[in-house]
Amino acid sequence: MPANQQTQKIIDNALRHGYRHIDTATIYHNEETVGSAIRSSLIPREQIFVTTKLWNSDHGYDHAIRAFNKSLERLGFDYIDLYLIHWPVTGKRKETWKALETLYKEGKCKAIGVSNYMHHHLEELLGFAEVIPAVNQIELHPYIFNSRIETIDLCRASGILPVAYSPLTKGIKLREPLLMKIAAKYEKTPAQLLIRWALQQGFSAIPKSKTIARVIENMKVFDFKISETDMEVLNNMEENLVTGWDPSDAL
Ligand SMILES: NC(=O)c1ccc[n+]([C@@H]2O[C@H](COP(=O)([O-])OP(=O)(O)OC[C@H]3O[C@@H](n4cnc5c(N)ncnc54)[C@H](OP(=O)(O)O)[C@@H]3O)[C@@H](O)[C@H]2O)c1
Repeated sequence: MPANQQTQKIIDNALRHGYRHIDTATIYHNEETVGSAIRSSLIPREQIFVTTKLWNSDHGYDHAIRAFNKSLERLGFDYIDLYLIHWPVTGKRKETWKALETLYKEGKCKAIGVSNYMHHHLEELLGFAEVIPAVNQIELHPYIFNSRIETIDLCRASGILPVAYSPLTKGIKLREPLLMKIAAKYEKTPAQLLIRWALQQGFSAIPKSKTIARVIENMKVFDFKISETDMEVLNNMEENLVTGWDPSDAL
């Protein structure tokens, strides 16, 4: 099935099963399909939360404004719920953030934030920001929790919501015996356990699946609670596992 049809089908199913947040980005090259899938669901626009992101080649004040308008056009909306800087590109972060603040003040996006910002990027941003980022979207799961704790603590202290991307470790750890053992205790799958862990940490979580049964499975995380003891075990599974790109060394 072509990628755009697959995206359409999964969004359609996700919305029918109660999902209301769709995370996209310029670099995913699917904003048009995301917009049309949302429109064809007939769910009122204001009931769906759409995040998209500014790509690395669009940094700088004017470039960022232009890139935002193009995303808006591709999505076919008149506003975006949350617009993020995708990656802390060195050199133009301040100008770019100023552009996002302008878009926010003009009401073109309801919230603005960042992604892949580590502690030092956030400190820099907090030094000049007039609008505090609503979120920081970073890779988060038990296998990287401890090495991200400084960043998480700064987010929490500054009122920035950590959003956990790759919360399922891209599937890498879903057959890990300890994870399977804890999940079985709650009669849940490892994927559900990881999503619930993120929620109990106070994070937002954005799991992905192109399999409808898994999309449905990943939603069933609101009918159980991980005990404090098991949270402690999960909190200490650190392996510095970065499944995608690692922003720690980005200057
Ligand atoms: N800001 C950033 O830089 C950034 C970077 C990476 C990701 N993200 C965002 O985060 C989202 C999720 O991250 P991700 O795709 O990297 O990783 P993920 O959600 O941790 O894992 C996705 C993988 O897990 C599998 N999976 C999903 N549910 C499952 C289940 N219940 N049981 C078994 N396997 C399951 C999927 O397989 P199938 O699809 O085959 O079912 C897929 O291979 C992305 O879609 C994107 O929106 C953002």
